Amino acid sequence: MPAPTLRAALAALCLAVPGFAGPALAQEKVNIYSYRQPALIEPVLKAFTEETGIATEVLFLDKGLDERIAAEGANSPADVILTVDISRLTSAKEKGVTQPVDEAGINDNIPAEYRDAEGHWIGVTRRGRVIYASKDRVSEDQISYADLADPKWKGRICIRSGQHDYNLALFSAMISHWGAEKTEEWMKGFKANLARKPDGGDRDQAKAIAAGECDIALGNTYYVGLMATNEKDPEQKDWYNAIKVVFPSIDDKGTHVNVSGMALARHAPNKEAALKLMNFLASEKAQEIYAAQVFEYPVKEGVAVSDVVASFGTLKADALPLTEIAKNRKAASEMVDRVALDDGAGS
Ligand SMILES: [Fe+2]
Repeated sequence: MPAPTLRAALAALCLAVPGFAGPALAQEKVNIYSYRQPALIEPVLKAFTEETGIATEVLFLDKGLDERIAAEGANSPADVILTVDISRLTSAKEKGVTQPVDEAGINDNIPAEYRDAEGHWIGVTRRGRVIYASKDRVSEDQISYADLADPKWKGRICIRSGQHDYNLALFSAMISHWGAEKTEEWMKGFKANLARKPDGGDRDQAKAIAAGECDIALGNTYYVGLMATNEKDPEQKDWYNAIKVVFPSIDDKGTHVNVSGMALARHAPNKEAALKLMNFLASEKAQEIYAAQVFEYPVKEGVAVSDVVASFGTLKADALPLTEIAKNRKAASEMVDRVALDDGAGS
């Protein structure tokens, strides 16, 4: 039998067998374009599909998400954008790739300070940018961001690239509170204290502390939980065990926090299902999963943090509006270049 005939015969047979799915049935689906790593959103997406029967498909991008949606135009399959960092959320709005969302369920669950006033982006989780300090070599339990420029830390600090969104948002917050001149002076002192050229991710800084290369680093809170519980790469538990978390403050303003968030894509072809997903991500259930499995701080009030995160102590978050932080991003990025922060202390 020639092959095409065989295939046709098999297809007919499959369709005739009860219980055999055959060609996929049309199922409701949401297409997600994500800057968040798949492993970090998988737990909530799984729970969403279990609850609603709506499938999710994730396109992970590490850059160019807005540009891609803009280029796809009205034919873009993107329904929901998931991203980290306030500047990326505000830039998605500015580039015109989002549309407003006004859902009572979301507005009730997410405080106004974590939402765009017009609903173009909504914060889903919070994270603090904290100090990872060597348990063995750092006795201090209180260190401010300003202290990191003190010569007593010379040769003892590690950090990822100063141009990374997480650091730019912190430097932006400093510019808001201190002004550009003071922040630049601070950055020069901070650079002089670096143990090595900025490199790697936040977890790599904890690894460097465990290896004795530096004594303190800046990192996001959730990575501490991810290291503490990492069964796939148990070496990360050693990095976790080498550090303690210190909540730094900008003067008496509190610890710099940033958000991960969501937006409805401008041409979302599956808008109804997309809104169901967005409502779900703002719900108590999803907020609990984010807290317990991804070690984020929920944005919905009253949802408990994980045990690991609770062990850090109480986060006092800087109340500076997130949109202020986004405004200073360019100034912060230019400052990092001017100071040549990424060249390390030797330059
Ligand atoms: Fe991250």
